[in-house]
Amino acid sequence: MSFNSEAVIADFPILTRTIRDGKRLVYLDSGATSQKPSVVIEAESNFYRLHNAAVHRGAHQLAEEATDAYEGARAMVANFLGADSNEIVFTKSATESLNLVAYAIGNAPAGNRFHLTPGDEIVISEMEHHANLIPWQQLAARTGAHLKWFEVTPAGRLDLEQLDSLITARTKIVSITHQSNVLGTINPIPEIVTRAHAVGAFVVLDACQSVPHMPVNVKDLDIDFLAFSGHKSVGPTGIGVLWGREELLNDLPPFLTGGSMIENVTMTTATWAKAPKRFEAGVPNMAQAVGLGAAVTYLQNIGMNEIFSHEKELTRYAMAALSDISDLTLIGPLDLEMRGGTLSFTVGDIHPHDLGQFLDSQGVAVRTGHHCAWPLTRKLGVPATTRASLYLYNTPQDIDELVQGIRNAQKYFG
Ligand SMILES: Cc1ncc(COP(=O)(O)O)c(C=O)c1O
Repeated sequence: MSFNSEAVIADFPILTRTIRDGKRLVYLDSGATSQKPSVVIEAESNFYRLHNAAVHRGAHQLAEEATDAYEGARAMVANFLGADSNEIVFTKSATESLNLVAYAIGNAPAGNRFHLTPGDEIVISEMEHHANLIPWQQLAARTGAHLKWFEVTPAGRLDLEQLDSLITARTKIVSITHQSNVLGTINPIPEIVTRAHAVGAFVVLDACQSVPHMPVNVKDLDIDFLAFSGHKSVGPTGIGVLWGREELLNDLPPFLTGGSMIENVTMTTATWAKAPKRFEAGVPNMAQAVGLGAAVTYLQNIGMNEIFSHEKELTRYAMAALSDISDLTLIGPLDLEMRGGTLSFTVGDIHPHDLGQFLDSQGVAVRTGHHCAWPLTRKLGVPATTRASLYLYNTPQDIDELVQGIRNAQKYFG
């Protein structure tokens, strides 16, 4: 498949609107949330328009159609990740997926393979988003397990020298981001998985910033759990995914309890359905799941390799252009190897919030702040950065306008 930038842009209606007194929208904030193509908007609204009913319940045609659409979306997401349908749990977000795993592990009784005791270890890294940090802090606090982490080198990479000393016979869980939402670093997951599995630990992958941008196959990665959000993958808000190996999901206690997740219920007891139902209590986010099915199919039709190559070329272009700006410091890997299109930087003494506001006045949407990775920005000695994050609908022209905006800001702030 070949990548046709103009055709991609035409798929996203929001990109035709103007902002700030008629300026073209230069959207460089896809790391926070992506824009949506018409096929996704239509899939979600068509569900409400034509098929809306509670899934897995009613004995009527609409319920049947809704269930088919919802389960069809599950099959599409499974196919996208190289997984089986029973391994796809729909949640409301990646944050919920990661909380689900951590909380469910905390509910595992003695004798269950996930049971944690004081002295067991959970390994994360300094570059985690708060969504893949705080649930593990909480789990450690609940169980007496010990939280440990990979440090980040000044070049913005995980310090792999620590691999063997950090992941030990006491390690039960290793939970790592695939691609940093601040640095753009793509982490060496195979090395980490090999070491983790050698000591019998489970690997959880926070794939929020990788699944939308590159081919991700859970079987090839040999991981145990994976989380991502629909809204960063051209899908709707309110829908996330937890993938887990089927036999592991079926050994994991539930997180939320209630309707649909049970096998049998008496006034005093209940037993659990198998995955994925066990983890989908209540009426789920049906229209959003259907929208996500359309989103991953849209990405697949373009081709994840094509999207990754497009973003890589754009990242190369952006890094060269940004490095020409005096006083601009790029935070994160300066080489293109194992790096995605998330570009965080500081510009002299201009506060990132001021720069973000100035760029907005020029039509350029970026994010500023600590990007929900406060320990990382603190470690790097930059309390806040400006972040431009690229996606399939961005072009070299967008980068040129970012660069011009930064130069204008330098003049404006003196
Ligand atoms: C690496 C990473 N993990 C987790 C999250 C949380 O995703 P959500 O807010 O969609 O739950 C984000 C969102 O920015 C992220 O970038």
